[in-house]
Amino acid sequence: MSNILLGVKKLVKSFDHGGKTLRILNSVDLDILHGESIAVLGASGAGKSTLLHLLGGLDTPSGGNIFFEGSDIAKYSSKELAAYRAEKIGFVFQFHHLLQAFTAVENVMIPCLIRKMDREKARSKAKKALDVVGLDHRLTHRPGQLSGGEQQRVAIARAIVMEPSILLADEPTGNLDSNTGQKINELLFDLNGKLGMTLFVVTHNTQMASLFSRQVTLADGVVTGDDRREN
Ligand SMILES: Nc1ncnc2c1ncn2[C@@H]1O[C@H](COP(=O)(O)OP(=O)(O)OP(=O)(O)O)[C@@H](O)[C@H]1O
Ligand SMILES: [Mg+2]
Repeated sequence: MSNILLGVKKLVKSFDHGGKTLRILNSVDLDILHGESIAVLGASGAGKSTLLHLLGGLDTPSGGNIFFEGSDIAKYSSKELAAYRAEKIGFVFQFHHLLQAFTAVENVMIPCLIRKMDREKARSKAKKALDVVGLDHRLTHRPGQLSGGEQQRVAIARAIVMEPSILLADEPTGNLDSNTGQKINELLFDLNGKLGMTLFVVTHNTQMASLFSRQVTLADGVVTGDDRREN
């Protein structure tokens, strides 16, 4: 098996807006290897979120290709693409997007239920995921009864419950105080170190980025920096 989990080749993304075509990604080339932890850096508007959405199949490229374990995701049927998003990719955003009416365990069960998993199996997987993020004592709390950091942990549990190949996180600590953010980062590194989950994390925090095995910088629609940590 190739060591490349996601292969990005000459990726282009343009948006038509106000009668003009805005080219946001302008031939991005990037190979994401199994088990890497990648911090994605770049100024506001550089196209970081755009790239993350394309990798996760939430949006479609204007040009170029994204290969998941060698297969071009543009060639997936809508059913295959839905399975890709649900089973191979875990998403974490700046805001947790938890459903307020549901408990922690119910929120984490949702991806399993969408994939038509049996309810009891879904519950047991959700409990396991909440245990991984250190929230096994908060199963029946609703989001409003949890701290900001705990809510983001629930969102991470929901992202990993289907055991995805890669976690795509868009400023996961952007909405948290620095202490709580630090704990969330430690959790992400644990997922990478202990479970081998590949991480692709957009961050504005350069100190935090230096802890990842690789730092990728985007500017003007291309990769302008790609550094691997020595060790
Ligand atoms: N649907 C859209 N239509 C038009 N322009 C868009 C659209 N989505 C994004 N853009 C533009 O693309 C550029 C890149 O956006 P993106 O959200 O990827 O930036 P970012 O690097 O994530 O920035 P930030 O650090 O502020 O989150 C921005 O200038 C934005 O205005
Ligand atoms: Mg963004």
